[in-house]
Amino acid sequence: MAGALADWAAKAAHQLSPRTGGEADARPRHIAIIMDGNGRWATARGMPRAFGHSAGVQALRNTVEAAGDLGIEVLTVYAFSTENWRRPPDEIEALFGLLRGFIRSDLTRLDRAGVRIRVLGEREGVPADILTLMDQAEKQTEGNTIMTLVIAFNYGGQAEIARATQEIARQAAAGLIDPETIGPDTIAQFLPSRDWPNPDLVIRTSGEQRLSNFLIWQSAYAEFLVFDTLWPDFGRPQLEEALQVFAKRNRRYGGV
Ligand code: FPP
Repeated sequence: MAGALADWAAKAAHQLSPRTGGEADARPRHIAIIMDGNGRWATARGMPRAFGHSAGVQALRNTVEAAGDLGIEVLTVYAFSTENWRRPPDEIEALFGLLRGFIRSDLTRLDRAGVRIRVLGEREGVPADILTLMDQAEKQTEGNTIMTLVIAFNYGGQAEIARATQEIARQAAAGLIDPETIGPDTIAQFLPSRDWPNPDLVIRTSGEQRLSNFLIWQSAYAEFLVFDTLWPDFGRPQLEEALQVFAKRNRRYGGV
């Protein structure tokens, strides 16, 4: 390979696998989790679904702590999707209340532990006081470097890509971007996730084998791992198991 093609291939390989110096991808830098199964967990106990979501918050706490200990740089969790608006109003209210409660009760502890909080998703439809709490959490923790916790709330991958495309089109119309130069890099740069590496590993609990519109751009080359465990039962042992499975995967990024 020579010239432009070699340059392009080297650049693409670097972006897909940002570790340098020949270091193996033995440990994921970024784990993204679809926290599924709260409803079934509650139903199995004869309890309302909101009880399962509440137990899910504790599983989230355990998982954040374990991820920090295990040296994970970024943990993204899918807490509320744009499709979750189809749920009954009381369940939506319960999920909003849990996010409110989580930020209020855990922000100080997470901040002291060096966790940076970022929020992904549409702001429209989210109650104003929750938006204020999200902004406060992001601002208060912006200097933290131990781990980034990304909370995907009112999030949908397709809408996120559409928004980026709108902005690119706007800039192209204004003459700021040459349409001929638009490529995957351009789109990645217009997504809010441009500040952190793409997920290396996507985990879904409760046995379902779907991405459900979660980080669909960023997960193009992520390993996918499904646990039968329902989310409220997920924690450190399952995360350790996930790391062991990941270390045995052979990531080829389309190569051989
Ligand atoms: C999917 O389980 C889970 C959700 C839609 C919400 C996930 C939320 C949490 C784990 C707690 C909230 C955390 C914060 C910080 C807000 P499901 O309800 O679809 O379960 P099912 O498939 O068994 O019905």
